[in-house]
Amino acid sequence: MCGIVGYVGAQDAAPILLEGLGRLEYRGYDSAGVAVVHRTGKGPATLKVRKASGRVADLAADLPARFKGAPGIGHTRWATHGEPSVANAHPHTDMSERIAVVHNGIIENADELRAKLTADGVEFTSQTDTETVAHLVAAAFANGAADLEQAVRTALKQVVGAYGIAVLDSEHPDRIVVARNGSPVLLGVGEREMFVASDVSALVGYTRQVVYLDDGELATITATGYRTFTLDDRSTAKQPSEVDWDVVGAEIGDHAHYLVKEIAEQPRSIERALRGRLDERFSTAHLGGLNLTIREAREFKRVKILGCGSACYAGELGAQLIEDLARVPATSESASEFRYRNPVVEPDTLYVAVSQSGETVDTLAAVQELQRKGGRVIGIINVVGSTIARQVDGGIYIHAGPEMSVAATKSFTSTLIAFALLALHLGRVRDLAPTEGRRIIDGLNQLPAQIEQILDEEKRTGLIAETAAEVAQRSSVLFIGRRRGWPVAKEGAQKFKEVSYVHAEAYASAELKHGPLALVSPELPTVACVPDDDLFEKNVSTLAEIRARKGPVVALAHRELSTDLADRTIVVPRNEPELDPILMSVPLQLLAYHAAVALDRDVDRPRNLAKSVTVE
Ligand code: G6P
Repeated sequence: MCGIVGYVGAQDAAPILLEGLGRLEYRGYDSAGVAVVHRTGKGPATLKVRKASGRVADLAADLPARFKGAPGIGHTRWATHGEPSVANAHPHTDMSERIAVVHNGIIENADELRAKLTADGVEFTSQTDTETVAHLVAAAFANGAADLEQAVRTALKQVVGAYGIAVLDSEHPDRIVVARNGSPVLLGVGEREMFVASDVSALVGYTRQVVYLDDGELATITATGYRTFTLDDRSTAKQPSEVDWDVVGAEIGDHAHYLVKEIAEQPRSIERALRGRLDERFSTAHLGGLNLTIREAREFKRVKILGCGSACYAGELGAQLIEDLARVPATSESASEFRYRNPVVEPDTLYVAVSQSGETVDTLAAVQELQRKGGRVIGIINVVGSTIARQVDGGIYIHAGPEMSVAATKSFTSTLIAFALLALHLGRVRDLAPTEGRRIIDGLNQLPAQIEQILDEEKRTGLIAETAAEVAQRSSVLFIGRRRGWPVAKEGAQKFKEVSYVHAEAYASAELKHGPLALVSPELPTVACVPDDDLFEKNVSTLAEIRARKGPVVALAHRELSTDLADRTIVVPRNEPELDPILMSVPLQLLAYHAAVALDRDVDRPRNLAKSVTVE
């Protein structure tokens, strides 16, 4: 959460910082700010700082033409300490306005540091934990630090907590010093210019050469290069690696919102997730990055999947795919719960961490806990080179490309593809027959065209948009499903509530009778997942129970249901039963999107949320 960007080079920093912040805004968006080193004639360099509460666009509109200079740093914030306001927005400065700091993460001993600094005569201007760092760096200079690196190292030795920071000093106007401990920081290497960012998407369009910092590492960047080192000033040699994302993936293009753009991208993102991985000859999947021998893949007795939010729901569907195709017991659990309950880690279990961003702190902590106890963890991750991707023992990149909207869509379906490939692979080294493997491969190959069909049908009829506008008028919506439909319902409800702010709750269909049926009335619409599988009749009975209580029903089904059962049926193309959830998810994404549009919500940046949750 929160985004950091920095620039050193011959250009003016502000436009580059604003563009980078715009790209990072999905991480946090309640206030933003920039600082640059400004030089006038022969006078000493000074810092210029500008902050705004609200969006990066508000900051940009507020920036005077004379706001010139470089290097510079910028920040977009998701409030932890102190309300969103101009005073609490970053960058924060020391009292003489020589030092400016932007920070992601939480400084746990901020109160203690604040008390100590106040006793030394420091006057604070914000409620943030970050401001302490600016004053600590200034104090380090006052106590004789020779250069910015030393001052930052001295300051950080007093700090307990998580941080990704970037520090600017008007008296060292050729550099930025950055540090990472629990919150990502990476360097972008350009031609006689260097960048800093908390997330690679800020650098899209500027450079593809990046250097990822590790926890406990610092770096100094100047226009001509970088040096990485530790808190004890030991040099660490780091080579840049190349990012495979391009500008096009992160641009909104002709779409009204990133969310609908990313929904529409799914035929292509699924093709990318499949590319080069299907082995038609042997009816299996090739997953080069798993780092598992065939023997190891055969020997696991269980699979345990961990993730948060949509990643966890994708994991629930993944567990079913693995059980169905590989006949290995598999379960999925929220990483945040797992990490706190002193989990029993078994040597014959394969652990799978799922994360779009690869930065979610609860998922990362679960991975680290597992590894501490000797667990073997693979990742299913979108962002290449992210913290979790580098922490796990192997894994599958989903190649969904940059996902800018806070609500996960293409990363959700591409994660399901990764699970289908993993299940196919685990199945084929065990008992899955080649014909069964072939059936799944054929199903996977059909998915992009079938999603295209769903999108085209909606363009033609507008049925989902019309349904969404109606459902959005109610104060609450129930989402239900059985077996594979149950995680689909959970993800559907999550998507719906997070972008529309209408209360939505998911229930396993058979559980309705155990409580929520009491809520069913003409006022409470139910969205039901009713695939044409062996549980169809059971699902029909549930709908009949809802209809008997005059509950409105929207069904997702493979064929039009009678109006006795559903007021509206959204017909979804049929694939293999194991893969149908991928297709069923798409209309639910559109339903959430159109509900949010109908209610005039901030579709891509729902209130109070952030895309990448790097605080507990
Ligand atoms: C946040 C996002 C969700 C996402 C979850 C896990 O809450 O808003 O969309 O599912 O984090 O994120 P990850 O990057 O680990 O998949």
